[in-house]
Amino acid sequence: MPVPLLDVNAQNHPLEAEFTEAFLRVFRSGQFIMGQEVTALETALAELTGSRHCLGVSSGTDAILLALMALDIGLGDEVLVPTFTFFATAGCVSRTGATPVFVDACPVCFNLDVEDARAKLTSRTKAIIPVHLFGQSADMNPILALAGEHGLRVIEDAAQSLGASYRDRPCGSLGDFGTYSFFPSKNLGGFGDAGALVCQDDALAERARILRNHGSQPK
Ligand SMILES: Cc1ncc(COP(=O)(O)O)c(C=O)c1O
Repeated sequence: MPVPLLDVNAQNHPLEAEFTEAFLRVFRSGQFIMGQEVTALETALAELTGSRHCLGVSSGTDAILLALMALDIGLGDEVLVPTFTFFATAGCVSRTGATPVFVDACPVCFNLDVEDARAKLTSRTKAIIPVHLFGQSADMNPILALAGEHGLRVIEDAAQSLGASYRDRPCGSLGDFGTYSFFPSKNLGGFGDAGALVCQDDALAERARILRNHGSQPK
């Protein structure tokens, strides 16, 4: 019997009536960008992740890119990223003009090896992006300690780990930003592309909010 790698219908079809009602609500509202449905999702995600702020964006990739932009990372900067992750983690760093510097994976947990991260530090290192792969948290305490010692910003790529936690704290809520993906194959799969980022700092969140909307505030 062929077993598909991913069968979104298996989880979606039983919920067809509920989804259809939601689709109709959005269709009838005419509000297809942002609006109260997105605000409701942001509020629920902020609560789920114990975060002060949550911003909905169009993909997990955009969430990483927006976090990097809000942290002013760009040309001349280096950002530590794991070798073992989806392309977007390093790709977003390159898109800002900064250089992704690859850090080996821990052979036991597959997440970023903190000692190798330490070995890759230079005077240009501005940030580190631990990735919580397969719903399994990266070892955040040593990563946060390293970041604290060297003044690095931390973006947690939690694209695969919404709902997971590290020592009772939700993945994504420990760094400067946490980013999530709702690509259909993810823990919380959307109907198309979608993502979100969370942040605990009011000023950083506000900066991200403005950048999300082409730099305008108000419109
Ligand atoms: C670790 C990781 N980071 C980022 C992304 C990018 O998310 P999206 O596909 O929503 O842009 C993914 C998605 O595959 C991912 O697995």
